[in-house]
Amino acid sequence: MTEFVIHGGRKLKGSIAVQGSKNGALPLLAAALLVCGEVVIENCPQLSDVDCALDILTYLGCKAGRSGNSVAVDCTGMCAHDIPERLMKRMRSSVVFLGAILARAGCAEMTMPGGCMLGPRPIDYHLDALRALGAEIAAEGERLLCRADSLRGCDLFLPFPSVGTTENAMLAASAAQGTTRIMNAAREPEILDLAGFLNAIGIPVRGAGTTVIEVEGGCRTHGARYTVATDRIAAGTYLCAAAACGGTVEITNARPEHMAALTNALRHAGCDILEKLGYMRLTAPSHIAPVGIVETRPYPGYATDMQPPLMALMCTAEGTSVFIENIFESRYNHMEQLRRMGADIQSEGRFAAVHGVARLTGAPVTAPDLRAGAALVTAALGAYGRTEISHIDHLERGYERMDETLRRLGADVIRREQ
Ligand code: EPU
Repeated sequence: MTEFVIHGGRKLKGSIAVQGSKNGALPLLAAALLVCGEVVIENCPQLSDVDCALDILTYLGCKAGRSGNSVAVDCTGMCAHDIPERLMKRMRSSVVFLGAILARAGCAEMTMPGGCMLGPRPIDYHLDALRALGAEIAAEGERLLCRADSLRGCDLFLPFPSVGTTENAMLAASAAQGTTRIMNAAREPEILDLAGFLNAIGIPVRGAGTTVIEVEGGCRTHGARYTVATDRIAAGTYLCAAAACGGTVEITNARPEHMAALTNALRHAGCDILEKLGYMRLTAPSHIAPVGIVETRPYPGYATDMQPPLMALMCTAEGTSVFIENIFESRYNHMEQLRRMGADIQSEGRFAAVHGVARLTGAPVTAPDLRAGAALVTAALGAYGRTEISHIDHLERGYERMDETLRRLGADVIRREQ
């Protein structure tokens, strides 16, 4: 088991460039299956979830290799259409391979995906969208057997702007005959990356970033090179960490236009934030103010992935903040761990009230999931004394060399194997 040992209380100060987006890169690796030829994905973060996607591609018979942050994939030799359970369970994003494998091979077999434990995470919207495009899907216990002799473009209305469903629908629609219109589509920046990549390989996609996306299917695809956007959640986590420590941090490759809901909340907390094209700088106030009510919503609302780090920051605000988690049923796994550090948080269902205390105190804690781990790092950096955070493997699914990045900013963080 790997852990972080953090001695808190040091102000973060300095300049960083943030990794490429995890949730942006993963669907592109699935989309590589639509091409017989090489695609190169630049700014692809070095994370265990990305390694899992590369392992799935290799299992399917594709060539996949990395040189630094550039990943080259050639799916010409794809020779399997199933994904074994051991790969499916490693991450949630394995489910976007369903649309891509169906599009490429006309059949797919897999089990239910894994991923962070955030309450029930069904895939009914995904399956309904694929069925509407012409797939026949049978579920045998945990196993899914899918066939699509021919996929047909159609109008799809999503019951909720689900990110993964929008991605799966876009991927399957790429091989469908005719045009597919996805209504009530997710508008997250990661959808823009997938649309940009599909356009680059020869599949016309219009409307990404709005609630209606049109995909023209059945076009001939070709190799391409595509650069993934900066990870808005990683960038936001470093800003929260800087705010918790009372420091000044600049991000030299930020996409502030993707982070408006977070910067709005951080400004409410008293942070001074300078935004320019591709740049952000945060200077923390001497005392953090409470943010009032924060409700998580689909983009452009406040991101559920940024709820845990902001909650950690609010633990030492001068007053009470209220969180309402609307996206996942059980995304307060960090709360119990924050309480071990002295946080005063009450919760009932989707609601959590955080009463700021003067200071958190270091303690041994466990990262229960990826973003909950980010909350614990944020809290530990601002806390008095030493915090040991175990189960860092969760964090390493989404943050590239987080300890190195934080040390560059002056934090006292050690990563060690136990
Ligand atoms: N939902 C259903 N049925 C479905 C699909 C979704 O009920 O078929 C529900 C989910 O249970 C959840 C809500 O709809 O309550 C939203 O789910 P969505 O499909 O939008 O999320 P996702 O695609 O599973 C992605 C990110 C998450 C991020 C959410 C919301 C990836 C790999 N994951 O998940 O990221 O929180 O969108 O923005 O892109 C993370 O990076 O830590 C993470 C969890």
